Amino acid sequence: MGGYTPEGGGGRAARPGRYPPLASLVVSTIAAFSAVIVIAVLHSSRALFTVWSLLQLMRRYPGRVPDVDLMLDCMDRPAINRTEHTGEGAPPPPPLFRYCTTRDHFDIPFPDWSFWGWPETHIEPWTREFRSVKQGSRRVRWPDRVPTAYWKGNPDVASPLRLALLACNDTNLWRAEIMRQNWEEEAKSGYQNSKLSSQCTHRYKIYAEGFAWSVSLKYILSCGSMALLIDPLYQDFFSRGLEPRVNHWPVSTVGMCESIRDAVEWGNAHPEEAERVGKRGQRLMQELGMDTVYDYMLHLLTEYAALLDFRPAPPHSSQEACAGSVLCLADDHQRRFLEASAAYPATAGPCSMPPSDG
Ligand SMILES: *[C@@H]1O[C@H](CO)[C@@H](O)[C@H](O)[C@H]1NC(C)=O
Ligand SMILES: *[C@@H]1O[C@H](CO)[C@@H](O)[C@H](O)[C@H]1NC(C)=O
Repeated sequence: MGGYTPEGGGGRAARPGRYPPLASLVVSTIAAFSAVIVIAVLHSSRALFTVWSLLQLMRRYPGRVPDVDLMLDCMDRPAINRTEHTGEGAPPPPPLFRYCTTRDHFDIPFPDWSFWGWPETHIEPWTREFRSVKQGSRRVRWPDRVPTAYWKGNPDVASPLRLALLACNDTNLWRAEIMRQNWEEEAKSGYQNSKLSSQCTHRYKIYAEGFAWSVSLKYILSCGSMALLIDPLYQDFFSRGLEPRVNHWPVSTVGMCESIRDAVEWGNAHPEEAERVGKRGQRLMQELGMDTVYDYMLHLLTEYAALLDFRPAPPHSSQEACAGSVLCLADDHQRRFLEASAAYPATAGPCSMPPSDG
């Protein structure tokens, strides 16, 4: 991946090219060309969709996306350990964007690819997927939903949490149904049973992190069922909107099955309050429309650009990715998702940022 040498003067302290081994995607957005310059990339569908997301941001806000060089790691787990970059003599943290972070890391959260669609699992771009899950959620009124907690997913993702969750699969003892998502079977049946819009059948839906954060959180909250969040360790860019007992219910990893049972029994004893928690979770997802996602990206890149002490310029070995060439790199299946998630120029400016607390 090397070969990215700083050129064109200026300070270098923050130059992301200094840390190439960490990142699977190194890009520049150069506003003048409305282009994303791909400097280094480990080829993956995630990277392709993330380059696409930056291009759509420039389409939505022509001329407003600043020139930046940035490194984004498309892998799951955060890497910039806060302790190792805090205190006297510690090296400053390299700015690394990633789909999630934790309280103990300096990774900078960036919206993950699934907002533009996830072709491998047939999940549509977020605008469409949310609409379809919300419609699906209207099919069974909350009081008519199964009064237990439901989880369906893949437990085989090197996640001790999900393995432990299998032990709670007992509706009599723990009021929980834990189902395995079998992608091979799903592929054979044309993904009919994995449709998220037909999974709003239970009053309570469990969210369990996988190897790191899981993109499933937004789909789970969209059902309007009370979401039971098992002690999330990872945060994505919208996690700060999550308020325990307001728009979701916290579940502890210690005594997890008991904690799930207690949440369900509380909800069944207080159905109106539990329904309201579910509705507020769904509303939070409604408010997380693509306009909000793009505004977050724009504000983030603008703040980040203000900290750069050099002028980004594309290096010789880079490839310019305009929308057309991303579409060419995509296979037919991916292309359908990319085209369905294309952005249009905004008719109004971005939301304004509230002043920071400091
Ligand atoms: C960060 O580094 C410290 C010291 O090297 C270590 O004790 C700690 O477990 C690390 N934290 C994470 C989240 O990896
Ligand atoms: C959980 O229990 C149900 C009902 O007994 C069963 O159908 C299902 O396969 C179990 N889930 C897992 C992951 O074993």
